[in-house]
Amino acid sequence: MNNLYPIQTKVDASKRQQLLNQRPLLIWFTGLSGSGKSTLAVQLEAMLYDRSYKTYLLDGDNIRTGLNKDLTFTEEGRVENIRRIGEVGKLMVDAGLVVLSAFISPFEADRQQVRNIVGRQNYFEVFVDTPLEICEQRDVKGLYRKARAGEVKNFTGIDSPYERPSAPDIRIETDKISIEDAVENLFRTIESRITRKH
Ligand SMILES: Nc1ncnc2c1ncn2[C@@H]1O[C@H](COP(=O)(O)OP(=O)(O)O)[C@@H](O)[C@H]1O
Ligand SMILES: [Mg+2]
Repeated sequence: MNNLYPIQTKVDASKRQQLLNQRPLLIWFTGLSGSGKSTLAVQLEAMLYDRSYKTYLLDGDNIRTGLNKDLTFTEEGRVENIRRIGEVGKLMVDAGLVVLSAFISPFEADRQQVRNIVGRQNYFEVFVDTPLEICEQRDVKGLYRKARAGEVKNFTGIDSPYERPSAPDIRIETDKISIEDAVENLFRTIESRITRKH
């Protein structure tokens, strides 16, 4: 951190929020592969767009084929993956956006780190709590079958751990509630956080 002199901008976060007429938030979806993170994030983003919120969706598979394509699925790779998403999320929150992110993010310490990077008040954790058996039945991408066959290593829930969030802002049991109801619940819960008070 030596010899670095961050510049002072004339346009700051509060001015951008005024212009965008919203308050930023990082909505962090965590859960097993196939739990429903992407499905819910996509639907919630569409609902926010319809209500004129400015959003951006960061999704595991997209980021892993771009920004983080140099990283592996080892523990080290997963930790660095999430750290970078946290930093990107911080920039986007500073830019004033409602950011939705959908990553397995299996480790509590990494989620805590994101919360610290982006700031506690800017972080909203959604635990997509779907039992492993259901995720495995869905097997959206055929990866559970491959993991059971030993063709995919370090697969969360099979041979890599998932640490359940200890205090999520909301928990969604997708085996008990429809996609539509879950998204409705989510929107109602975050609405006051992203709406500007005049
Ligand atoms: N209530 C629900 N919420 C979210 N997804 C659901 C629900 N019920 C069934 N699903 C299905 O579960 C699958 C979840 O896949 P996906 O969203 O890709 O998971 P992830 O992004 O967590 O890996 C989708 O095929 C979705 O249609
Ligand atoms: Mg996904």
